[in-house]
Amino acid sequence: MFDFSYYTPTKVVFGKGTESKTAELIKEFGGTKILIHYGGGSVVRSGLLRRVTDSLDNAGISYVTLGGAVPNPHLSLVYEGIELCKKENVDFLLAVGGGSAIDSAKAIGYGVANEGDVWDFYDYKRKATGCLPLGVILTIAATGSEMSDSSVITKEEGLVKRGYSSDFGRPKFAIMNPELTMTLPDYQTACGCTDIMMHTMERYFTNGGNMEITDSIAEGLLRTVMKNAVILRDDPKDYDARAEIMWAGSLSHNGLTGCGNNGGDWMTHKIEHELGGLFDVAHGAGLAAVWGSWARYVYKDCLPRFKRFALNVMGMGDVGSDEEIALKGIEALEDFFRSIKMPTNLRELGVDATDDDLILMAKKCADGLPNGEFGSAKVLNEQAILEIFKASV
Ligand code: NZQ
Ligand code: ZN
Repeated sequence: MFDFSYYTPTKVVFGKGTESKTAELIKEFGGTKILIHYGGGSVVRSGLLRRVTDSLDNAGISYVTLGGAVPNPHLSLVYEGIELCKKENVDFLLAVGGGSAIDSAKAIGYGVANEGDVWDFYDYKRKATGCLPLGVILTIAATGSEMSDSSVITKEEGLVKRGYSSDFGRPKFAIMNPELTMTLPDYQTACGCTDIMMHTMERYFTNGGNMEITDSIAEGLLRTVMKNAVILRDDPKDYDARAEIMWAGSLSHNGLTGCGNNGGDWMTHKIEHELGGLFDVAHGAGLAAVWGSWARYVYKDCLPRFKRFALNVMGMGDVGSDEEIALKGIEALEDFFRSIKMPTNLRELGVDATDDDLILMAKKCADGLPNGEFGSAKVLNEQAILEIFKASV
């Protein structure tokens, strides 16, 4: 087991109607002039944005609004938000939406609190020394950005999608009302469940130290998400299932399932980020499309973990060689993805990638890795990434 530090400062307010506490929470964390940041309009159509602005009006809190954060959020809107915050003397950010609105808000927060070009942080050129304080009203359970230190932004020029992680970006509060996720399209619900699982699995498939308590939490989380993803597939209005998934989303990416291991593998995410950057696919679906190819490429180098996953998460019997059991576990997870209508290759994802596309994505991915390689289950370089892309067509 490895030493670790665990820092999860976000105040979580969970349950029905909790968005009514927004003004109170903003005041608690010292916000006086707010930028409300949201996505493409789902929060307008659902009436959530109106309820939030009404509650701020009633509490005498002034605000400006900025919508338009698209899935795989764009750097250009981040720049626009930074300018708006400076012009309006904004001192607190409120993201209303999913990972894209939250990540875009975090980037705006870095840009306001630090001199120079905010992209430098995403381009690994320097580290932020602060961030505007941020609160979240979550409308989709998926990324865990409501408690995580991460923000993922796409620079339109060159379609470069990169993440930046810093404790400064962790939200001050997260309002989580599972009912708000009931307007989600089924596809987005399934994408979210996949992403939640993958945040846990990235930390689970490692050759670094492991801890029994962390493994047990991770395995329980994975089983819970799979069970409730199927419930939601059949009944999207099931409140308890929505709640289980929503809380799992936060726990999957707030560091809990990384305690004691070496930080995780993360190559499935890095590979998917290239798909998201170039083809603008939904993040969770992109992960499902490449995971099987990644797993088959690396499992022999991380066999005890893949065997444990097959037995404890996918419920395989302890019959056959370790390799056979590991492969059965991989196949079982792909079957599960299909059962919730997630893709298991690029074709099913709707991506018709040419050989040149695959080569470009592998190169961009490796360019974004320290010394051109990364991974814990198995260290991957550009050639290995290309092999995985080729196997996922
Ligand atoms: O934009 P609107 O109109 O709000 O519609 C969104 C969007 O089309 C819609 N939606 C969200 N809540 C809804 C809803 N529609 C109806 N009812 C609701 N209640 O769903 C679509 C997806 O929203 P988005 O915010 O893009 O989804 P998600 O939360 O999956 O975020 C994806 C982004 O987060 C990044 C991904 O790479 C991607 O860019 N990630 C961020 C992470 C982090 N910050 O920690 C970690 C992740 O691994 C991930 O990389
Ligand atoms: Zn993710």
